[in-house]
Amino acid sequence: MTIAFPAWYYDEIKQVGVDFEDTAQVEAYDRKQKSNTPEVNQALIQRLGINKGHKVIEIGCGTGTFSIQAALTGAKVHAVDVSESMLSYAENKAKAAGATNIEFHHAGFLSYEHKDEPVDFIITKAAFHHLPDFWKTVGLLRMWEMLKPEGILYLQDAIFSFDAAEWQYRIDDWITRAAKPTGEGFSKADFEMHVREEYSTFAWIIEGMLKRTGLEVVEVNYITPEITEFISKKRSHQ
Ligand SMILES: C[S@@+](CC[C@H](N)C(=O)[O-])C[C@H]1O[C@@H](n2cnc3c(N)ncnc32)[C@H](O)[C@@H]1O
Repeated sequence: MTIAFPAWYYDEIKQVGVDFEDTAQVEAYDRKQKSNTPEVNQALIQRLGINKGHKVIEIGCGTGTFSIQAALTGAKVHAVDVSESMLSYAENKAKAAGATNIEFHHAGFLSYEHKDEPVDFIITKAAFHHLPDFWKTVGLLRMWEMLKPEGILYLQDAIFSFDAAEWQYRIDDWITRAAKPTGEGFSKADFEMHVREEYSTFAWIIEGMLKRTGLEVVEVNYITPEITEFISKKRSHQ
């Protein structure tokens, strides 16, 4: 049975910002991802304690780098993304890597229906900013439902920890520091589009959402003033 969503429900399949249905964008994205290597994802898997037999959902799996590494570790992985082009690219990458323990799902934070048992871990990297803030909260409530009691949500994204009053300088400074020349990574235009058209927000807002949805923050790292990771544990709703 599929859920019937009301007419006012957010259409997350419609691309926001970068069009990840465009296969050229998908290939370019995989090339530009300099820091999202298999080794970096293996280190995250070790740090979180993901092992053989664990059940994992990755939402916004993109080209599948994390999901493939988690499956190679022996976890059962559900890899979810709203872009069919991303999913088919990720499926090919998984086949080439010999990662068989992954089920791919065309859905997102607001539409994925988890039909398997509740999971030990939900991972989402660089994807949550595609939802406006009200819908981020709905997404967290839905992820809470998919986790086992004490299950872990790892959320990493472009989430701002700088002083709100400094917004203009901080955004300019971020783009100046992070943008790469064409062909060498994410460009100035990529960052400008991110800020203008996607929904990155402040860390204190995400932290409030996590608390309100029954996800206790057990670790937070402000990796840069613009990139934050939260590790949260499922508790009862408050
Ligand atoms: C910037 S990429 C990040 C991909 C991958 N997690 C990584 O770290 O390389 C963002 C991904 O989120 C997906 N996405 C966008 N909106 C989404 C939603 N509402 N639910 C799930 N995935 C979404 C996009 O299709 C894209 O594959």
